[in-house]
Amino acid sequence: MKKLVIKDLHVEVEGQEILKGINLEVSEGEKVALLGPNGHGKSTLFNAIMGNPRYKITKGEIFLDGENVLEMDVPTRSKKGLFLCFQNPSEIPGVNSADFLKAAINEHSEKRVSLYQFYKILDQATKEVKIPFEMFNRSLNDGFSGGEKKRNEILQMLLLNPSIAMLDEIDSGLDVDAINIVSDCINKQFEEKHTGFLIISHYARLFELIKPTRSVVIVNGKVACEGGPEIYKRIDKEGYEWIKDEYGINIEKEEQPMNKVSIGVCATKEYVKNGTSK
Ligand SMILES: Nc1ncnc2c1ncn2[C@@H]1O[C@H](COP(=O)(O)OP(=O)(O)O)[C@@H](O)[C@H]1O
Ligand SMILES: [Mg+2]
Repeated sequence: MKKLVIKDLHVEVEGQEILKGINLEVSEGEKVALLGPNGHGKSTLFNAIMGNPRYKITKGEIFLDGENVLEMDVPTRSKKGLFLCFQNPSEIPGVNSADFLKAAINEHSEKRVSLYQFYKILDQATKEVKIPFEMFNRSLNDGFSGGEKKRNEILQMLLLNPSIAMLDEIDSGLDVDAINIVSDCINKQFEEKHTGFLIISHYARLFELIKPTRSVVIVNGKVACEGGPEIYKRIDKEGYEWIKDEYGINIEKEEQPMNKVSIGVCATKEYVKNGTSK
């Protein structure tokens, strides 16, 4: 059974420390709900695990089944069984969806799949995520609706069959039918393949459908608390204020310095520096 172990992880983005000592473990056969206020480092954690070069690991370790993940390049991390569903999947005009998926499958298998096999696999997966097969003749995510992009991410997960899948706000932008489709796919993957999941969401609705085995809350770049379903249920009802009261953790707000590294417009940078837009 594969296990992802994160030890005292510190991550910087553009010179700003975002993760400040994360400790977290997830094994195959576990579904972990990851919650936390916006801008507190949830997506940063996933990007760092997957090896996005913009996210600089300054301290700490990540192991997958005892192997040092930080020494692996991104394709190796993927082949070893890590998978990330992006919060905002990119549109890549000019890269045909079917070609992209076939290349990804071939990279993950010892023997190249024939065109016939590939179309059979893709046909089955498109039925599960309920996206028309014809859409895969188009460029990757090009002109896909928000919901189609998210379902396309889930389709990639089904095709690559990871040991540990990280889903970043997979339910944002999905209507009720699409949330049901996506959660059915996650549940099937879990039951049949025992994939371990780290699932970021702000909404109890998704968690009610997929029944996480644990809930973990990230605040100010650290794990603030862990527990069972009672945690996501409470956050859904009451927000995050109770964490401040019960754990004595001051929750930095998004507009505080923690967030300023994402600001790209000069006028706004001036505002941060001087407290005025003039
Ligand atoms: N690629 C990036 N470039 C600049 N800033 C970033 C980047 N990724 C994350 N950040 C910053 O790191 C902080 C944490 O962001 P993120 O991990 O996306 O939060 P969350 O997913 O919890 O909402 C934010 O202040 C955000 O602006
Ligand atoms: Mg995020």
